[in-house]
Amino acid sequence: MRPLRNAYLDALGIDRWVPRDAPPEIASIPETVAASPMAAPVTRSAPANTPFVPSADWGTLRERVAACTACAELCRTRTQTVFGVGNTNAEWLIIGEAPGAEEDRQGEPFVGRAGQLLNAMLLAVGLPREQVFIANILKCRPPGNRDPKPDEVSRCLPFLANQIALLKPKIILVVGRIAAQTLLATDAPLARLRGKVHSFGEPAIPLVITYHPAYLLRTPPDKRKAWEDLKLARATYSRIATGNA
Ligand code: URA
Repeated sequence: MRPLRNAYLDALGIDRWVPRDAPPEIASIPETVAASPMAAPVTRSAPANTPFVPSADWGTLRERVAACTACAELCRTRTQTVFGVGNTNAEWLIIGEAPGAEEDRQGEPFVGRAGQLLNAMLLAVGLPREQVFIANILKCRPPGNRDPKPDEVSRCLPFLANQIALLKPKIILVVGRIAAQTLLATDAPLARLRGKVHSFGEPAIPLVITYHPAYLLRTPPDKRKAWEDLKLARATYSRIATGNA
């Protein structure tokens, strides 16, 4: 997916070639600008084609996400943005789809029932929640828990790419079809995407896909397959950590 690749390159600070007659990018990336050091920050939308300028630190990125007004509907209906949570030195990054009602209320990803199952899944492979970083494709809750719209995904992805660039995880675990299809720029079904190790970005980060915990709550028999995915992720990480990748 071009927007993701572009967002990722921008977040890594890698120049990219844009043809002079290129159509405007879908993403209208919000920027926080201050007129003077004393002025209160104001948020504006960058003109089309303005590349996302990545933040060099977590605090600034968090503030930009909190001030984002790029999606008119989402910033009107959200209670707050949901930046992500966890250890900013984590070697594991977990990526979900978008905040739900409880996450929107608490400002933290995966705190509802699905979150409790995610915590249990992580613990099953020896990972307390505090040891990983958890983020979503979208930082705002889509009203009524509808699927994210493509333009919302395009606008929000630079924030995730920036998070990835700051975190530099050793492995990414993706939960659910929508996050998986977004990150791999594919519409292949989840059944075809799970069970193998993909590669994300440059330098390549191994990426393993499994079922979304909310789906597993509805479909307990598939927990067995999710367990296989978690073991695959764990084995992949162990190989990297011991230098046998
Ligand atoms: N589902 C997600 O994908 N992310 C959350 O944060 C909560 C539920």
